[in-house]
Amino acid sequence: MSVLVHLRTSYFKRKERMNQSRIIIKGGKVVNEDCSAISDVYIENGHIIDVGSNLEIPAGVTVIDATDRLVIPGGIDTHTHMELAFMGTKAVDDFHTGTKAALAGGTTMIMDFVIPQRGVSLLEAFDWWKDTADPKVCCDYSLHVAVTWWSDKVKMEMETLAKEKGVNSFKMFMAYKDVFMLQDHELYAAFSQCKQIGAIAQVHAENGDLIVEGAKKMLSLGITGPEGHELCRPEEVEAEATQRAITIAHAVNCPLYVVHVMSKSAAKVVSSARREGRVVFGEPIAAGLGTDGTHCWHKDWAHAAKFIMGPPLRPDPSTPAFLMDLLANDDLSVTGTDHCTFSVCQKALGKDDFTKIPNGVNGVEDRMSVIWEKGVHSGKMDENRFVAVTSSNAAKIFNMYPQKGRIAKGSDADVVIWDPKATRRISAVTHHQAVDYNIFEGMECHGVPVVTISRGKVVYERGQLSAHPGQGRFIPRQPYAEFVYKRVQQRDQVGQPRPVIRIPYDGDVISTY
Ligand code: URP
Ligand code: ZN
Ligand code: ZN
Ligand code: ZN
Repeated sequence: MSVLVHLRTSYFKRKERMNQSRIIIKGGKVVNEDCSAISDVYIENGHIIDVGSNLEIPAGVTVIDATDRLVIPGGIDTHTHMELAFMGTKAVDDFHTGTKAALAGGTTMIMDFVIPQRGVSLLEAFDWWKDTADPKVCCDYSLHVAVTWWSDKVKMEMETLAKEKGVNSFKMFMAYKDVFMLQDHELYAAFSQCKQIGAIAQVHAENGDLIVEGAKKMLSLGITGPEGHELCRPEEVEAEATQRAITIAHAVNCPLYVVHVMSKSAAKVVSSARREGRVVFGEPIAAGLGTDGTHCWHKDWAHAAKFIMGPPLRPDPSTPAFLMDLLANDDLSVTGTDHCTFSVCQKALGKDDFTKIPNGVNGVEDRMSVIWEKGVHSGKMDENRFVAVTSSNAAKIFNMYPQKGRIAKGSDADVVIWDPKATRRISAVTHHQAVDYNIFEGMECHGVPVVTISRGKVVYERGQLSAHPGQGRFIPRQPYAEFVYKRVQQRDQVGQPRPVIRIPYDGDVISTY
């Protein structure tokens, strides 16, 4: 056979495979969060139909050999901001490029944020953001909604979102003063409403007042470069807000989810709260697990600016390994990326003033490999914990398990064939993210997604993407996730304070003025 004929044949074979709606994955090690077993996986029309050994191969199905590979649930990135308009510009990865990049990295679902401006209806913002995402997404997605202001209308709309729109998670900002930040009494009200409607409260935990004062101080000292960003909001600014959020959530017995846990101090606060029995979950992100804030002190301004995000990557270089230890041991629960990408020319809006550098880093394509490298290849976690922190726990917390986050009969066919021994070097030259750099540039990662299956279709295979905009679906989520609310409800039943029953006092009472 000539080379051309061979190339053509394999092209058509690949094309045929990519159009297939019936797939059997043979001989791989199926890894769930609780066990691993060599099994075949049969997929039809977007769902997993069967998992077992030596499954018969029906006629006409596409066969994928997964010998010596792992077959894992597709990754769920709990935290992205595709095409977010923020700090005077717009994130460069949109729902199309961002979800394509996700698939190339072994992530088959993203959870993005609706962030209404103050005064804007949450319902209108939700509809608008969903309409923006729907025609572009290449993988499934879901939406958290941010509560950036407080009123009776916001309260009512949260209920409608939970009952009718498939939203069971709301993010409250304790930073971005005068933009998104809520006061403590508003946090109390928002958390109470989350509890009332069976949602989980999420917090961006940083003390926004202290950040404003710290920034003024740094600028007055002549510190205008990227290092000023961390210097004005050191670890305790994050740890204090984290503790405050936990205290407020506990006061109303509302489950809490701390997004982007970036420092050792904040992680310790989450960890000790969990040990005291609080229903709180901490989400480290790929950036915080894979790199650190020392880059922000780099002499090259552009290099330093690429690493600016809030809360900041910490200059203590032992931070990523510490966060990974806590993630491995269930002190932290789940991973996202906070993927919110601004190219260098956008970061340059803050070339003379660090407070104007758009906050955000990449990660949606890199998360799975970074976590395998730093978590599993390093020996801190096993393959099952890897699955727990990259998909299953997210599916449980946000109430879409076992539809997502599990390889099992009846689950959605979002599946990744993972080669734990293969390596790849992360680079902006080869990545699929639209941003013009990569904060993990040059990192060699063991653990490579070789095939990604989304909604039962092969959408990525050995470097070739065949995903189409609009192919993904919005995944609605019901309130009262058992994984989160069972404990909360149990406490409500048995743990309410009760008055002491007494014989009424019938003695003298002095008269008041
Ligand atoms: O720097 C960040 N994190 N940008 C996105 C907005 C947010 O706070 O998550
Ligand atoms: Zn945030
Ligand atoms: Zn650097
Ligand atoms: Zn974010």
